Amino acid sequence: MNLKPKIIVRNLFMSFKQEKEIKVLENINFEISLNEFVSIIGPSGCGKTTLLRIIAGFLKPTKGEVICDGTTVKGPSPSRVVVFQKDAVFPWMSVRQNVEFGLLAKGVSQEERTRISNYFIELVGLKGFEDNLPKTLSGGMRKRVDLARAYAAGPEILLMDEPFGSLDAQTKSKMQEELLKIWEREKRTILFITHDISEALYLSDRVIVLTSRPGKTKKIIKVSLPRPRKNELKFTPEFAELEREVWDLIQEKI
Ligand SMILES: Nc1ncnc2c1ncn2[C@@H]1O[C@H](COP(=O)(O)OP(=O)(O)O)[C@@H](O)[C@H]1O
Ligand SMILES: [Mg+2]
Repeated sequence: MNLKPKIIVRNLFMSFKQEKEIKVLENINFEISLNEFVSIIGPSGCGKTTLLRIIAGFLKPTKGEVICDGTTVKGPSPSRVVVFQKDAVFPWMSVRQNVEFGLLAKGVSQEERTRISNYFIELVGLKGFEDNLPKTLSGGMRKRVDLARAYAAGPEILLMDEPFGSLDAQTKSKMQEELLKIWEREKRTILFITHDISEALYLSDRVIVLTSRPGKTKKIIKVSLPRPRKNELKFTPEFAELEREVWDLIQEKI
């Protein structure tokens, strides 16, 4: 295990100034190790997306800093790719063109683009759909295209903001299982934002629980459930116990 943290969030504060100042994040501190899977959970409006945008380098914090690989984040970087709830799939491009888009923009050769897109299209389970247009795909399949696109861009860190938030319950469960399979094969450092307790626990090595706005780090829970994980894990007493703990934390009962 590499003990040098991949991401350090240190003494982070964020306020937005409108007519009056809104404090969104207050003294957030945590570290994420190389190839760790960490989720952030907290009530709606507590500043999760804001925190992710700061880590991505899209927003500058009011105070504090984010350090990736020992360097303070000052702006976006190709080593950090963001996956949003709304997929970033271009409707007029085929699956392959979508997956290769970032590589084309970087000037990667045709041969190399094909090699990379073949690999990630296969990894996300879309082999055979390379020439399909997005409108011919289901919501879950479009999410797979989005994941392949994010991976193909070659990031070391994947920042995911409720990526499965708009999927129906069954597709969402399936995609959670898929994401873990992909991550087992292609380890990356993943920071996953959700307001779904079961999703956070099922996917993660650790879950960071934020308080309601202004978001503060309420507790960091280590999820010691064995891997590889299957959906059945969600029906075990150990899982239910963890869910209860996070639920009570979010309801501010403890
Ligand atoms: N650019 C902005 N300007 C002003 N207020 C903002 C801006 N972005 C977010 N906020 C406010 O910050 C709070 C946290 O938003 P957000 O980070 O999206 O929360 P979450 O993702 O946890 O639901 C909300 O009250 C939101 O209205
Ligand atoms: Mg959000």
